[in-house]
This record gives sequence, C-alpha cells and structure tokens, in this order.
Amino acid sequence: MTQASTINLRPLRVGVVGVGVMGSNHARVLAGLPGAELAGVADPDAKQAEFVARALNCAAVPDIEGLLGLGVDAITIAAPTHLHREVALAAIARGVHVLVEKPIASTVEEGREIIDAARHAGVTLMVGHVERFNPAVEAIKDAIRGEDILSIAITRVGPFPPRMSNVGVVIDLAVHDIDLIRWFTDSDIIEVQPQLSSAVAEREDIALLQFRTASGVLAHINTNWLTPFKARNVTVATRRKYVMGDLLTRQVTECFGFQPDGSYSMRHLSVGHAEPLRSELLAFLQAINTGTPPAVTGEQGVASLEIAIQCLTTSSHQPAVARRASVVV
Ligand SMILES: NC(=O)c1ccc[n+]([C@@H]2O[C@H](COP(=O)([O-])OP(=O)(O)OC[C@H]3O[C@@H](n4cnc5c(N)ncnc54)[C@H](O)[C@@H]3O)[C@@H](O)[C@H]2O)c1
Repeated sequence: MTQASTINLRPLRVGVVGVGVMGSNHARVLAGLPGAELAGVADPDAKQAEFVARALNCAAVPDIEGLLGLGVDAITIAAPTHLHREVALAAIARGVHVLVEKPIASTVEEGREIIDAARHAGVTLMVGHVERFNPAVEAIKDAIRGEDILSIAITRVGPFPPRMSNVGVVIDLAVHDIDLIRWFTDSDIIEVQPQLSSAVAEREDIALLQFRTASGVLAHINTNWLTPFKARNVTVATRRKYVMGDLLTRQVTECFGFQPDGSYSMRHLSVGHAEPLRSELLAFLQAINTGTPPAVTGEQGVASLEIAIQCLTTSSHQPAVARRASVVV
C-alpha cells in the first residue's frame, strides 16, 4: 500500500506555524476543512497563539518543535518570511508535508534548499500563491486558454500595511503578479525592466515593472503602497480578445469578435464564489493524499522570487530623501 493511500484513511493532522494576519486565516480555514484536523498552532506570541487555539479548539505551542511534538502530518508556514527556511527544513526533516506562504523564502538559495530537502524526504512542498485560487483569476485563465496572448497589465495598489515588515512592495505585492504572469503565459520571464522608488518608506513603496516572457508576451505590473484604496486589476490582450478582471469584486469581462469597422462584442464571464485560501488548502491536502505535484510547486515559487529579486537588483532605485536633495541642489 502506498503512503498516500494509508494517509487517506484518516483526516490529515495539520498545524499552522505563525498565526498573525495570514496564519490565523490558515487556522480558521483548516479547522473547517474536510479531510483535515487542525492539530495545533505555533507562535512565540503566546497570547495570540492561545487566542486562536481557544477559538478553534486546538493546541497552542510556542514553536515548530512543539507542533512536531503533537504528531502532525503537514504544516502550513505563515511565520515571517525570513523564518520560512528554518521552519520548513525542521518539518521536512521529520517527514512532514509543508505549505509555505509566499514568498517561499528570503533568497533564491534558501528556496532551493527547501525544494531539495522536500524532494530528498519525499514530502509534498507547496507555495501559498493564493491568488492562483482566486475565482476571478481562474476565469481569466480559462478565457485566455489557447489564445495568442500579446500583453498583460496588472495593477495591485493600496495603502501602507498596518505593520511594516522588512520588505518593500516588490517582494510583498509584485511577487503575486510575477507568479500570475508566469502562470497566465505558461512561460518564463526572460527580460526585466524595473522602475522603483521610495516615496515614504525606506524600502521601495512604488514599483513599475515591465517584463518580456520567453513566449514573447509583454507584461507590466503597477504596484504601490501610496493609494488610499485597494485595487487589484488584470487586463490581458490576446489577438482575438481583450479580457478585464477585477480580482476584488471578481467581475471578469471579455471583449471579442473584433470587426474591421471597430465594433466588437462584450460579455461578463461566470466567476465562482469559493474562498481562495480554502481552495488552496484543499489543493494542498489533495496533493498530499494523491502524491501528485501540488498546484504551486517549490520550483514555481523560487522562479517568481528570483524575478522579484532581479527587479530589486537591476533597478537604479533612488530613495526619496536622496531624490529630494538632488532637486534642491
Ligand atoms: N498569500 C498572501 O496573500 C499573503 C498575505 C499576507 C502575508 N503573507 C505571507 O505570510 C507570512 C506572514 O505574514 P503576516 O502578514 O501574517 O505576518 P504577521 O506578522 O501578521 O504574522 C507572523 C506571525 O508569526 C509569528 N512568529 C514569529 N516568529 C515565529 C516563529 N519562530 N515560529 C512561529 N511563529 C512565529 C509572529 O508572532 C506572528 O504572529 C509572510 O511570509 C507573508 O509574506 C502572504
């Protein structure tokens, strides 16, 4: 009997590492997911860990060792990104399946270390690029399947997050869209033209990023933390269609049937209602149970991180203070 079919006999015991903003959502969803049993949550912030554990009726422990001690089959990691490698390697060393939040790690090297360890141990490794499971994104992907994609433009803007981490908008936000561009085009990004600026924060808080994929698609990401409201919009131009999606309202529209006189038809596409995080975690459980590659692999997570880091290293990013000084001079 295979390991997968053995695990199938009972719900998977899953733990969550880091129950801040994202991890508490992981725990909430896992607590109600068929095929899963939320075994416990790990967080050094005891008050937060106990608050979540009490609400969801599971154990609270301070760290990954405590969680592994509860006997878990799988964990999801939503601790700060600089801890992803350390936590993932500890779990993988014990044969535990891992879903790690995006970005997979702080560096490409650390991401590859996690991939190698998971492959060696034969455990499932999935990366939490949750936007892939947004029903609006799925509708866009369906609409452009088989089409000759020409260009993609993505806007992901909003106000500053309540608590600043030590990363800027490229690693925090644009990495979602880099993954979407690679996924929509089924192609790698081979050219990067980034423009970054820091208007308020120390790290970049505005980024305009342009890309070319190996398949010849031009793509553009507009992201910042200086917009008073959240917006997440995707447009895809193909030779025969123009598809527009709002990832927040989940409205997806396509223009098609272009005529020589400039007229065309337009229709709203049907979009599902599933919670993206629920679909993502179900996909993680399914990959574990079937032993098939997960919907978002470690390699895909590293590829998107690599492009994000390339945006940071190839940009002539000038901090706002220096820019203001140069204006005065
Ligand atoms: N997929 C998405 O859309 C999305 C959205 C937000 C955050 N994230 C990712 O999730 C991760 C967490 O982000 P967040 O915004 O929830 O951060 P957060 O600061 O709200 O939460 C992090 C939690 O981890 C805990 N923690 C710190 N050290 C720990 C350790 N050694 N072991 C266990 N827990 C520890 C903290 O006490 C805190 O409660 C990051 O990697 C981030 O990039 C992804």
